Amino acid sequence: MSYQQITHSAAKIAVYPGSFDPVTYGHLDIIHRAAKQFDRLIVAVLNNLNKNPLFSLNERMELLREVTADLPNVEVDGFRDLLINYMQQKQANVIVRGLRAVSDFEYELQMASMNHKLNPGVETFFMMTNPAYSYLSSSIVKEIAKFHAPVAELVPPQVEKALRTKFRS
Ligand code: PNS
Repeated sequence: MSYQQITHSAAKIAVYPGSFDPVTYGHLDIIHRAAKQFDRLIVAVLNNLNKNPLFSLNERMELLREVTADLPNVEVDGFRDLLINYMQQKQANVIVRGLRAVSDFEYELQMASMNHKLNPGVETFFMMTNPAYSYLSSSIVKEIAKFHAPVAELVPPQVEKALRTKFRS
């Protein structure tokens, strides 16, 4: 088997799941770096019916598509299933998650351990968030934007515009 055949048959598909309400520069940093490590990266937006997101599933996906348009191996999708079922549906075996601080660890460990129990064939890969964005979260961005404070350093221009429209008074 040639090297090319080996790499082809071992194509690595990773899924970066999240709420992305909305996508921030922290998420985008993880997307850029993860896209370099895998053949295909699927950014999977959770349509969580229990949460009350600011942006609809379609709006969140559209913003993600706009800000990742320059990354040919990145695609954006939505899901409402158990993540581990969605992984199987996509034939993907790596979950990518960003870790910002120790405070993220407990929740992430719980999720990774449960996902591992549900399907040991799926690995969770953690990436340390760029320290420049370690304080950043979608919730904080929404809080700031709600009070019309500047968010240009926190989110891409498309997201900044969408936030301005949402919080227009
Ligand atoms: O951006 P978030 O809100 O921190 O992402 C959390 C997400 C979407 C990764 C997590 O809630 C999830 O995977 N939800 C899908 C339902 C599921 O599989 N739950 C069990 C996880 S152990």
